[in-house]
Amino acid sequence: MTRLRQELDPDRLLRSGLRPARGRLAVAVVAFIVKDSPLWILPIVTATVIDALVEQRDPSSLVAPAGLAVVAILANVLANAVYVRAYSYAVRQLGARLREALATRLQELSIGYHARSSAAVAQTKVVRDVENIELMLQQSFGPVLSAFTILIGAGIATALRVPEFLPVFALTVPLATGLILWLRRRTGPSNEAFRRSVEQMSSRVNEMSSLLEVTRAHGLEAVSVRRVVDTSNDVQRAGMSLDRLNGRFGALSWSSYQLLTLGCLFGAALVSMSGLIPISVGDVVLLSSYFSLLTGSISSAFQIAPIVTKGIESRRSIVEVLLEPDVERNGGKREVSAARGAIDFVGVDFDYGSGRVIDGLDLSIAPGETVAFVGPSGSGKSTLVNLALGFLRPVDGRVLIDGADIESIDMRTARRFISVVPQESVLFRGSIRENVAYGIEDVSDELLTDALLNANADFVFDLPDGWDTPVGDRGAQLSGGQRQRLAIARALIRDPAILILDEATAALDPETQAEVQDAIDRLTADRTTLVVAHRLSTVRRADRIVVLEAGSIVESGSHDELAAAGGTYARLLAQQ
Ligand SMILES: Nc1ncnc2c1ncn2[C@@H]1O[C@H](COP(=O)(O)OP(=O)(O)O)[C@@H](O)[C@H]1O
Ligand SMILES: [Mg+2]
Repeated sequence: MTRLRQELDPDRLLRSGLRPARGRLAVAVVAFIVKDSPLWILPIVTATVIDALVEQRDPSSLVAPAGLAVVAILANVLANAVYVRAYSYAVRQLGARLREALATRLQELSIGYHARSSAAVAQTKVVRDVENIELMLQQSFGPVLSAFTILIGAGIATALRVPEFLPVFALTVPLATGLILWLRRRTGPSNEAFRRSVEQMSSRVNEMSSLLEVTRAHGLEAVSVRRVVDTSNDVQRAGMSLDRLNGRFGALSWSSYQLLTLGCLFGAALVSMSGLIPISVGDVVLLSSYFSLLTGSISSAFQIAPIVTKGIESRRSIVEVLLEPDVERNGGKREVSAARGAIDFVGVDFDYGSGRVIDGLDLSIAPGETVAFVGPSGSGKSTLVNLALGFLRPVDGRVLIDGADIESIDMRTARRFISVVPQESVLFRGSIRENVAYGIEDVSDELLTDALLNANADFVFDLPDGWDTPVGDRGAQLSGGQRQRLAIARALIRDPAILILDEATAALDPETQAEVQDAIDRLTADRTTLVVAHRLSTVRRADRIVVLEAGSIVESGSHDELAAAGGTYARLLAQQ
């Protein structure tokens, strides 16, 4: 448990993300300090030159300051190049690590979590939040480090030349702290509101894209645009209130530091005039330049405050996912190395949080058996299938695979022996071959050919590029029947012990369905198969038909038995 905690600790993650780059980070810091040194070295040069003038010194006294200035400026050019390379490496590497951690986490989170949260939100986190963190680190490193080096450099030079003025420098620190506290308290909630509104908008835009055809077909463009516009108006409102706060902070920090600078100038002048402390003209110039330098650098460090607060919020957004507890726990459980294909439901209850969906269900499925589930929509067929896959966990009772409670086995290994053909198969951008072989390395041409033929997907061989033909996003360039046949080939090539078809042919026209059904029959031959089907014609040949109603089994038997029994199945049969 503590080990898990540690792995999930976001700060640890951020730090471990930077760990391999620690060397570069150190190089970046040193290079930056060198690069920035002219800022506080040049005022010393100026003050020395002024004092040399005022005191009418020998021209040779100018050689040292001139040399110092030239060296500092040349070093700047070199150090800058080193700094940019080293720091960019460290930040980009952290970004890549964060994205990897997020993707890994999203894969560990339960299907239930993904059902609750929008895919677009996950996408926003992986893309935008990581970018915000990179931006924060990139933009803040320079100004913040610069403010510190100037504070230290100016402090040292002042200590050497006019130590009496050192306490004045110390004033900048509490002032900066106060301002930062104000900022944290005021803009934290606004940043969060803004980020949530952007997430909302992302999920609406995503929804708009996936509903495009339905929207057009029903002439609902305006409604659809409205839904996006509503959220984008929220983004506008949240953004404006954030901008106002950031603006107020900018003004507040600028004017307080300006006041401090002026105070220092007049103070130094008064001290010099009164003769209280022996302080030269050069010293007054030095102090005043240091103060405006310091003020300027603190102000510009504060100018990136909006980027920093946004980055902090993005970090929180990422942490939200990294700490989400609804994960599928597989670690340390027994790995499955072979499967016969027996599935048992023992007194299984399930609900999604609003009433029983599966109610005390008992069912034993023998290896190699084909069981069809029929019943009205919402009777719990898909839920049952998801319980068998371990996507959902029973509230009560147990689900066993080959006699082992799925709670006790590593489902990631068990699922290697299971294939699923869903109602709407998703193909990714890539060739047909890549899509069919998805996740299996080194698929031979023979195996691929067999799978395609057995899936009745011979249309592939008529394509000009055969199985190297690319398919678009979501398989847009293929018909529904073609897509489904590729999905069946994908299921088949894995030679699974258990096959699950959840309304795999429901979206197809009867003719295509008959063809796909033909492929399915071949597929079910010697493996355990769970078929969920609407059309009863597709379940006739199953070894057993289970009729579900409101999460309970009301009938079970072969087609002939049930047809003769005159129960629910017979009634459904008569309706079709
Ligand atoms: N993700 C979910 N969250 C809440 N309720 C759900 C969810 N999925 C399904 N349900 C509910 O559970 C019941 C069974 O759904 P489901 O198993 O999908 O039925 P079927 O596949 O038989 O049509 C339905 O009442 C449905 O509204
Ligand atoms: Mg369903």
